[in-house]
Amino acid sequence: MPTTLQGRRAKRRKYRRARIRNFLFTVGPDRLSGGRITRRHLSQECIVREIEVVSANWPSRFDGLRIGHISDFHVGELHSVDNALKAIEQLAACEVDLVACTGDVVDLDADLAGPVVTALGAVRAQLGSFLVLGNHDELHDPDTLEGMAIECGVNVLRNEAVEINRNGEKLVVAGIEWAKSAVKCATNVDIACGELTHLLLSHNPKAFLRATDLGVALTLSGHTHGGQVAMKNKPNTNLALAHRRSAGLFESNNSALFVTTGVGAWFPLRVNCPAEIAILTVRST
Ligand SMILES: [Fe+2]
Repeated sequence: MPTTLQGRRAKRRKYRRARIRNFLFTVGPDRLSGGRITRRHLSQECIVREIEVVSANWPSRFDGLRIGHISDFHVGELHSVDNALKAIEQLAACEVDLVACTGDVVDLDADLAGPVVTALGAVRAQLGSFLVLGNHDELHDPDTLEGMAIECGVNVLRNEAVEINRNGEKLVVAGIEWAKSAVKCATNVDIACGELTHLLLSHNPKAFLRATDLGVALTLSGHTHGGQVAMKNKPNTNLALAHRRSAGLFESNNSALFVTTGVGAWFPLRVNCPAEIAILTVRST
């Protein structure tokens, strides 16, 4: 929660703008179309995508680790809690070692996050479940959302890192707070990644620029929703114009970035850009 009066006012303004956006792009079109647009959007299936990543910076004892990457549920008026729970069930069936959720659990109101973080914490994954918050999670009450997640056993990473030890070798997992610009993302990456980090969770894919400098083996991001409307067979030619890396896998030196198209959306349209859950197998050589 912002501590200054000015900060609190700015936050309230942001929340009000988000409500107006929600009315213009979600509630309005839905009412005008008698619910047809939303029904069609929600009838599209959420796919499971398998990806293999190889990085010499990945620790050998964790070779072959399976990460279940899920993001952007946007639980609210467009995407229901049930929709999010169904996607988490799909992920749980994939038998992963670690669950990584890269934010936007809710679209507007943090109160709706309870069942979703409960389900995330309940997925059987030997290295646990991790969460970073997205810009939508920040709109209402990020601290309450964080508290709910921690209570459910989910590791919430807000500019911090944790170490997981396995037979004397460690895997360092870091996560950063939401930031809009590449410069602010870089500042957060520097705070979170105090030493060599292997896995970075960042809602905004722009953190990858700094993560590459630091030799982070794998960065996982969401936020863009893959632009939601993309050209056929060209997933990176899409409506997320502010992002050079908006969907799929990108590699640079020994660092990789995977940007998921996410589960939910904030407007009811996806073209050539299905909702997805990503299962990443990470190899050290
Ligand atoms: Fe999002």
